[in-house]
Amino acid sequence: MPKRLQGLQPTLIRQFFERALPDSINFGLGEPDLPTPDFLRREAARVATEEQNGYTSHPGLPALREKISEQYPHLGLGLKDIVVTCGSQEAMTAAFLSIVDIGDDVLLPNPSFPAYDACVRISQGNPVYYRLPAETEFAFDIEEFKRAITPKTKAAVVISPSNPTGKIFTETDLRQIAEVLEGTGIYLISDEIYSDLYFGERPHSASEFYERTVIVSGLSKSLSMTGWRLGWAASSRPEVMHGIQVLHGFLTVCASAITQKASLLGWSAEAEEFKAHAREVYKKRGDFLVDLFDKELGLKATAPEGAFYTMLDVRSVGDDIEIAEKCLQNRVITVPGVAFGTEAKGFLRISFCNSEERMAEGVRRMKEAIGV
Ligand SMILES: Cc1ncc(COP(=O)(O)O)c(C=O)c1O
Repeated sequence: MPKRLQGLQPTLIRQFFERALPDSINFGLGEPDLPTPDFLRREAARVATEEQNGYTSHPGLPALREKISEQYPHLGLGLKDIVVTCGSQEAMTAAFLSIVDIGDDVLLPNPSFPAYDACVRISQGNPVYYRLPAETEFAFDIEEFKRAITPKTKAAVVISPSNPTGKIFTETDLRQIAEVLEGTGIYLISDEIYSDLYFGERPHSASEFYERTVIVSGLSKSLSMTGWRLGWAASSRPEVMHGIQVLHGFLTVCASAITQKASLLGWSAEAEEFKAHAREVYKKRGDFLVDLFDKELGLKATAPEGAFYTMLDVRSVGDDIEIAEKCLQNRVITVPGVAFGTEAKGFLRISFCNSEERMAEGVRRMKEAIGV
């Protein structure tokens, strides 16, 4: 096996999910359970039956790229500044490969989505972590960020709203990052896959404050389209977008033409209505679940600000891996915090993509398993 792939393993998220017993309650995967909206299903069916669906141009349908560019008016992006990919995961991997050279350091949040670490390693760079301290509910801390920068730092990652914490980087956080990075040449990779799922004010994009930003985003989470595979990379940096487009052409050629055509409706009034509905549903569920953990288990969970995650503090009852294992044996899938980094050791990541009834049953099973 080539060096760049050595040591790569499926994430603990997958490892727990794949060992789940039948009829488990899924607090594990970050996958929306709300049905994909009908108007998208109908449009995809129409496109599949009525139209010829050949390859699109490598970076995607111009009309779709135009819609994506309108989402970032502050950047004034043209069609060449956007590549439509097979989910944001492809955009992310291609972004790392287009920026990171052998031996470069890349700053990653601790805790964060484990794919970043894998992408840095595939790019033969070194992951360097900045803490999002557990003691402040994983809020961003500019001093931790500054401390992690080295002369070899090539890029840094921000994710807002965050997987796994459900926290948002505030405007102040992003301005501070921009101030620190200005003039360093360091790229910022901004994972905005959850940017439409927020429970207070709409989160800012790091690209509003820092020009060397590459946005990675898509429709998977906000429109319940995970299996449709529609994502994008967007940036005003031509050297990065060129790399991403070249890689994308050789990896996948183009995202599915059917998905791309249906996704033209991803910014329609109906789509915006669905996104607003999803925000409402996830907010209500998050509040419900955090409250239930407190009442039923006597355990504190972080207050979600976006996405559909909360971090449940289980330090008072034991080790996160052992507790996740006990829960798994009692038919509840969770993810041990350490799957996302050392800072989340002692927490479980709980995803609330479930009805209130299923979540209440999940908490009941957790109580039985943990014995609190
Ligand atoms: C933080 C984060 N980024 C990116 C992705 C990839 O999503 P997709 O490839 O479906 O757009 C996920 C999916 O779980 C995620 O949680």
